[in-house]
Amino acid sequence: MSGTATFDLHGAHIVAGFGELDRCGDGVRRAVGARRLCIISDDTVAPLWAPRLAAAIGDAATPVLTIPAGEASKTRKQWSRLTDELLEAGFGRDSALLALGGGVVGDLAGFVAATYLRGIPVVQVPTTLLAMIDASIGGKTGVDTRAGKNLVGAFHHPALVVADPATLATLPLDQLRSGFAEAVKHAVITDAGAFAWLAASAADIVRANGPVPERALELVQRNIAIKCDVVARDEREGGLRKVLNFGHTIGHAIETLSDYALLHGECIAIGMVVEARAAALAGIGASSLAGDIADVLATAGLPVRVPAAFDDAAILAATRTDKKARAGQVEYAVPMRLGAMAGADRGYAVPIADAIIRDALARSR
Ligand SMILES: NC(=O)c1ccc[n+]([C@@H]2O[C@H](COP(=O)([O-])OP(=O)(O)OC[C@H]3O[C@@H](n4cnc5c(N)ncnc54)[C@H](O)[C@@H]3O)[C@@H](O)[C@H]2O)c1
Ligand SMILES: [Zn+2]
Repeated sequence: MSGTATFDLHGAHIVAGFGELDRCGDGVRRAVGARRLCIISDDTVAPLWAPRLAAAIGDAATPVLTIPAGEASKTRKQWSRLTDELLEAGFGRDSALLALGGGVVGDLAGFVAATYLRGIPVVQVPTTLLAMIDASIGGKTGVDTRAGKNLVGAFHHPALVVADPATLATLPLDQLRSGFAEAVKHAVITDAGAFAWLAASAADIVRANGPVPERALELVQRNIAIKCDVVARDEREGGLRKVLNFGHTIGHAIETLSDYALLHGECIAIGMVVEARAAALAGIGASSLAGDIADVLATAGLPVRVPAAFDDAAILAATRTDKKARAGQVEYAVPMRLGAMAGADRGYAVPIADAIIRDALARSR
């Protein structure tokens, strides 16, 4: 097994490798200085991994504040509670937070750090596949509101990201699968080689007792590299980051209609198949792509068909409330072929007519 890989993004150092959770003490001190530390986690992850993190930073008595596990905790209410508890415990400007958990903890603790005393550093310690390869990278933090997800937040780049694939050993299979869907998206954006590697590795990654370690390491490192590359280049190539929306316009619509009963990755799996099919029908994308993507997703046990419960009209209506709908025109990030996204000249946001989306939905049921 190859060792730890490091990446740099916006001054944030990202380390990814087995054992990094136990070795991160020096890195945390280098990144945040001699600050008073507080771990923020959820009530599933904290008992599993917080003692290891506290030991790594050399203080078993490091305070741990927890939220109930799950998306329902990504709220201003939890933000209030956490900021109040930090204030009551006397955490000052010389403090830093360690966000230990999935994307919910990362986004919420990141937003607490962005706003607490007008901003203190945060170290992201992602423990889901989705958080390692997506949510912990790029500096987006925030909370959900009644009007929609992620509508209140801030950019706050982490001082350090510590991604240890060992933590994936305790992650439930459905969560592993959900993160895998984002890896498929990354591979489509990257090139045919990345896609072929992922297709060949799917069975070794999405496994009941965690991925085969060698595969987990390569998966995490490859995908962090892809996300960092897209985010770093976004500043220069206006809007490149939008390529990360592939599968997410239809995916978010289905996620909303399911009232979040389906996992995010399950919804974007279906979304990628429908959007790739729509791209082909619109004459933008290769006709074989939707089938190739569906095959990899199905190997991992992800859904690739539009649930019968959601009719075309409801899905189309839900895409219009998505923040990617600009001036009524719904826009999509779609591939022309593996490694080449359409619409480079218009910020990778391609309008596709409702009639074509309907056709793609019909062919995906
Ligand atoms: N900031 C960004 O750029 C960005 C990008 C993508 C997604 N997100 C956000 O991320 C969130 C989803 O993140 P998620 O999928 O990680 O969900 P999550 O944080 O809810 O974690 C999923 C579940 O797995 C459990 N869990 C986490 N790590 C575990 C482990 N190692 N062992 C056992 N159980 C573990 C959690 O307790 C939770 O029940 C959403 O709120 C989404 O909006 C943010
Ligand atoms: Zn996503």
